[in-house]
Amino acid sequence: MSDGSVTASTAAQELSREQIARLDPSGQLGDVLALPEHLRDALWRAESAIMQDWDTSAGLVVAGMGGSAIGGALARAALGDHASRPIFVTRAYGIPTWTTPDTMVLCASYSGETEETLACYESAGALGAKRTVVTTGGRLAEMARADGVPVIPLPAGFQPRAAVAYMIVASLEVAALCGAGPRLTSEIDVAASHLEQLVTEWGPDAPEDSLAKEVARGLLGTIPVIAGAGLTNPIAYRWKTQINENAKQPCFSNELPELDHNEIEGWQGAHEVGRFSAVFLDDSDAHPRVKQRMDITEQMIAGNAVASFRLETRGQTAIERVLSLVLLGDLVSVYLAALRGVDPGPVKALDELKAALAEL
Ligand code: F6R
Repeated sequence: MSDGSVTASTAAQELSREQIARLDPSGQLGDVLALPEHLRDALWRAESAIMQDWDTSAGLVVAGMGGSAIGGALARAALGDHASRPIFVTRAYGIPTWTTPDTMVLCASYSGETEETLACYESAGALGAKRTVVTTGGRLAEMARADGVPVIPLPAGFQPRAAVAYMIVASLEVAALCGAGPRLTSEIDVAASHLEQLVTEWGPDAPEDSLAKEVARGLLGTIPVIAGAGLTNPIAYRWKTQINENAKQPCFSNELPELDHNEIEGWQGAHEVGRFSAVFLDDSDAHPRVKQRMDITEQMIAGNAVASFRLETRGQTAIERVLSLVLLGDLVSVYLAALRGVDPGPVKALDELKAALAEL
């Protein structure tokens, strides 16, 4: 691992497939590049697992943590104004007290062993809510099978965060089945083809000055602060968590317009306390005042940020646009890991913490 100091030679390192593979024995880069295939496989899995339509007038709660919860948040962003019932994501030991037998609770846990999600599964049952599970197995799958709760089965062998496409599709499919949103099956299929083009444009075989590589080099040696707005809010959070878990370094995210009411003040002293960079995630459909705020905010912090990027979603439909910046952020995080000389796969601190809790 590098000592954290960024030299011109570190930043100039080639980000080729071979170079990255040396530090990425578990193939995190390959999992990011396979997002389009994951989307298609996920559609098939969700459709074959759930045959029944439930009309849950109180909406949908997606319960999960980390890489398993983000799919619910991204799905909600992709549905946007087309969501016809509340869709709520909970990352906690319990589900909202307003959950009733008319609520669908989707319990999402890649491992099926996450204690917060197991607790949500049980409290959803106690409240008489309808339940669905998306997992590879574990205690969650065992309980669901014993209770006759439908299970959307996931392929094993990924880091949970690499199964993001599966988690998005599962949330969208369950939202459609319980009447919380329209069915997006064909849009997801089209989005997978769109994503294939972006994989070529931003992937490791693209030129060294292509966008994802350029952003990773710009963020190297800095603490990135990612700003989202509306549709890009959960994507900003995805960037933050992917940079934390893949590149093993601090990164924070916030949202506009809220950050203009507090964080912008903090930027004044940024250069005195550290090397911060900024990434603004824009969308063609963002509120016009939010776009103006992004322009002014970027100009105002420019002198205090080591680097600043304004990146816009690509694509027509909301699901295409969401997935475009998820792909870009995931690639940036793996490239950043390579530039920093760290293996993006293992999450030792997460594992250690879970093991310590299991002893109590
Ligand atoms: C690890 C990761 C984590 C997990 C989280 C919950 O790659 O992304 O954020 O997703 O610790 O575990 P699961 O997903 O197994 O419920």
